[in-house]
Parts: sequence; C-alpha cells; structure tokens
Amino acid sequence: MEKEKMIDAVEKRRTFAIISHPDAGKTTITEQLLLFGGVVRKAGTVKAKKSGSFAKSDWMEIEKKRGISVTSSVMQFDYAGKRINILDTPGHEDFSEDTYRTLMAVDSAVMVIDSAKGIEPQTKKLFQVCKMRGIPIFTFINKLDRDGREPLDLVTELEEVLNIQAYPMNWPIGMGKGLKGIYDIFNKRIELYRREDKDESFVKLDDSGEIIGEHPLKEESIYQQVLGEIELLKDAGNHFDAAKISQGKLTPVFFGSALTNFGVKTFLDAYLQFAPAPHEHRTNDDDIVKPVDDVFSGFVFKIQANMNPNHRDRIAFVRICSGKFERGMDVTLARGNKKIRLSNSTQFMADTRETLNSAVAGDIIGLYDTGNFQIGDTIYSGKKTIQFEKLPQFTPEIFVKVTAKNVMKQKSFHKGIDQLVQEGAIQLYQSYSTGDYILGAVGQLQFEVFQFRMLNEYHSEVVMTPMGKKIARWIKPEQLDEKMSTSRNLLVKDRQEQPLFLFENEFSERWFQDKYPEVKLTAKL
Ligand code: G4P
Repeated sequence: MEKEKMIDAVEKRRTFAIISHPDAGKTTITEQLLLFGGVVRKAGTVKAKKSGSFAKSDWMEIEKKRGISVTSSVMQFDYAGKRINILDTPGHEDFSEDTYRTLMAVDSAVMVIDSAKGIEPQTKKLFQVCKMRGIPIFTFINKLDRDGREPLDLVTELEEVLNIQAYPMNWPIGMGKGLKGIYDIFNKRIELYRREDKDESFVKLDDSGEIIGEHPLKEESIYQQVLGEIELLKDAGNHFDAAKISQGKLTPVFFGSALTNFGVKTFLDAYLQFAPAPHEHRTNDDDIVKPVDDVFSGFVFKIQANMNPNHRDRIAFVRICSGKFERGMDVTLARGNKKIRLSNSTQFMADTRETLNSAVAGDIIGLYDTGNFQIGDTIYSGKKTIQFEKLPQFTPEIFVKVTAKNVMKQKSFHKGIDQLVQEGAIQLYQSYSTGDYILGAVGQLQFEVFQFRMLNEYHSEVVMTPMGKKIARWIKPEQLDEKMSTSRNLLVKDRQEQPLFLFENEFSERWFQDKYPEVKLTAKL
C-alpha cells in the first residue's frame, strides 16, 4: 500500500524550469501558473518580489538595483491532479552557471520567447544545455497582445537557430490590436481573445478545421489567412509525435500572452499531458536509480546562503532522485561517507517557506546546512553507496585578486570566502609564489555580488584588483615544474590543491605548449 502510494505520488510529479532571455515574460507566466495552482491569490506577487517588496534578504538589494533576478527559487503547487515544481532560473547571463546546474535538476523545460524578438542569445545558450540532456522542451511564444513577428517566421527561426523540430499546437489569429484569438490545432477549437470579459470562450471546429455554423470571425480576412497557413503547416510542417517530444527532438509550440492570461491555461493543460514524470538517474558505477526505488537518494544542485536575514541560514537545494524523504531521516553523504540527520528541511512557495515533512522523487527540498554540503553532493539512505555523476563545471574566464581591507579581520574574511565559494558561483585559487587569493568567475557581476555579500553578511570589506580575462588550464601535478610559470602564465592551485596555469591569452598558451609539448593541459578538472 505504502509502495503504491509512493508510485502514485511520483507519477504525479512534474518538475521543470522556465528558460528565457530577460524580459521575455518568465516572471509573468510563472505568476499566472501559480494563480492556476491557487498559490498566489492575485497577480503581482511574484512581480512584487522582483521589485523588492518581498525581498527575503539584504543581498537581494543588488537585484533591486539592477532589476535582475540573481537567485533561483523553487515553487510548488497542485493543479489538475498533478504536483508541479517550478525551478526559477536567473536570467542574467553572468549567472548562467547557476542556471545550467538548475537544469540538471528538472525533467523538462519551458522556453518562453518574446514574439517581437524571436530567439535571443540567452535562450540559445540555455536551450543547448537542455538539448544536451535530451529533456523535453515546450515552447511558449509570448506577448501576442503586442505586434510581433510573423508566426511562420518565428517557427522557422526556432527550427533553424536551435536545430530542433517544432510542432505548432496552436496558431495566432492576428496580433497586437488585431489579435482575435488562437487557432488551437491540437484541441480542434478556436480560443477567442477577449479584452474585457476574461471568461474563456471557445469555438468548435469541424473535421475539415473550419468553424461550425455561423460566426462573425468567418467574415474576417485574417480567419481565411490563418486557414491557409494551417493548410500549409499540415502539408509542409512536422507531424505531432509524443515520442519525439519526450526525447527532446520535437518541441510543441504554443502562442499566447502571459500578461493578459491568454493561452496560458491551454498551454498548461497540454504541457501536463505530455511532460514526463521524474526520470531515472545514472550513478558513477553505472547503476540506474529509479524514482520509485525504496532507497532515498538525491543530489545538491545549488547552495544559497542567508535567504532570510533573520536566520542567517544556508540552504542546500536537493533534487530527490528516488525513495521518500522524511524529516529527521538519517542519510549518508557520499563524499567522505559521512552520516547526517536531515532534521531541518523546508519547501518553497511563492511567498512563504514552509516546513516540509515528506517528499518524493521529482521534488526539490531545501536543507538547512551548517557547512556539510557542496554542490554536486549525493545523499542516500540504505547500505549501498550511491554517487551520482558529477555536475558540469564551467571554467572561469575572468579573475580578480582579493584581499581583506582590514588585515585584523582575517577570520571573517576567510569564513566569508569559504562559504560563498561553496555556493559555487565563484571559484577560489591561490597563487603558488605569493599565496595571494584569486577569484575566478564566468561573469563580472558575480564579483560584485561577492563583494556586496562579503560586506553585508560577513562584515568583511574586500579589495578586488582586476586581473582581466585569463585562460585556465590544469596540469597534472607530476608534470609540474614551478619554473614553468612566468608573468604570462600564473601558476595557482584550486581548492582541491590541484595546480593550474592562468594564461594571459591564447598566444601565451600556444607558446607554452610549443615549449613543453609533452605537458598535457586540460580546460576542466
Ligand atoms: P522576465 O521575467 O522574463 O524578465 O520578464 P517579465 O515577466 O518580468 O516581463 C518583462 C516585461 O514584459 C514586463 O513589462 C511584463 O509586464 C511584460 N510582459 C510579459 N508578458 C507580456 C505579454 O504577454 N504581453 C505584454 N504586452 N507584455 C508582457 P515591464 O514594463 O518591464 O514591467 P512592468 O513595469 O510591467 O512590471
């Protein structure tokens, strides 16, 4: 019985992330989805968080100032018999590493595209990560209430730029001021756009795809035009294929307007029909862990400190891969084979954090952490060791030298650096020759956040000396001779004491390789 209940619970889970370029409408659509789930009572709650009135911690100041979302949070709600977990992702490209890792914790992705802009750089990058993982991708082309590009043009661009097949589930009838509705190919109906009256209004189609009986829309030239476009799609477009969707080879495309809540419910209903339940995970030993296995297992994909300034807490976000999580359970941390009791856990909502007592595969739990966890850690119950494959790491590209302004305050400086580095957005190195601390990151903004947080959370004023762009290349310790280091290739060690060179540019890297052809340099550890 217990087992049946668990299987049933796992089957109901749908865990996804929304990917988009900033301003495409991710926040707005998230808010609408939460409304359907009854989590937020009125539109504006998520938005308000973004603009500051729901700010959970002082370091979100930096988000407020720049109007960007730096954190990624988790929202859970029930809808149509399913339990939905949405993982928010930071839109700013300097935080793409954070987003990439979040994508490792989901079973599908929703891609939001601005109909006036089409595929933008950030969407492309994030999409490639989804494609690499082979997870299903659902596309929502947003802002139909504004004048945008021709739908055919958008779908063609989607296929060409992202190299994926697209299948339009519906098709806009006009746009901007001329928006009449969407022609719903999948549900064989027309959904009318109503500006004032918010009630849904559907018109049925006959087998040939035309409106049954009399309707004013039939008189409109746009209606005839859309019928022509639908014919064209039928003849020349892709066929609907649920198997291809689940393999991430074909993306179903939906049109709508998140702001006016048009087409969002239609999207959500279809999404739930085709989005996968939690998937299996592979371990380092090449074992397969099934979501319904009895043994609990999960991995940490994100660590975030001090979400609540009153608690000074750190939270490790864990994706559950199998079994059932229960508060107070004992688990093993695979790294170091350490036993840990999970007594403090939390689940996330749009505007509250609630204590969580149990969760199953597909769910994300937040564990209050006192420094036990690192990104990529596996935890499991039971006797057999489970260690999931490593999460991808991104090689930092820009570097700064960092020191404490007040030499008397070394303790808080080290504590701060240690904790913030564990969160994974920045990497720490130490120079071989001088012992200087060097930070590496993918984007400049991460340094600013680091400096801000060091001051606000650890009361440590740091001085950062820019070192510019560098190429980080690891070298096998047995091949290392400290004399190899010059001013053009600074020798440093990472947190695992592994040596690497920071090359000034490609030229200096080539020069080095010419001089030491037997030395093998690698971009990642
Ligand atoms: P993001 O999270 O992807 O960055 O985008 P967000 O939802 O914040 O939306 C970006 C802007 O686009 C917002 O306007 C939002 O109101 C608008 N928007 C989102 N969906 C739609 C839509 O379907 N139609 C139209 N016309 N606009 C849409 P803003 O002016 O930047 O913010 P605000 O001042 O409205 O809060």
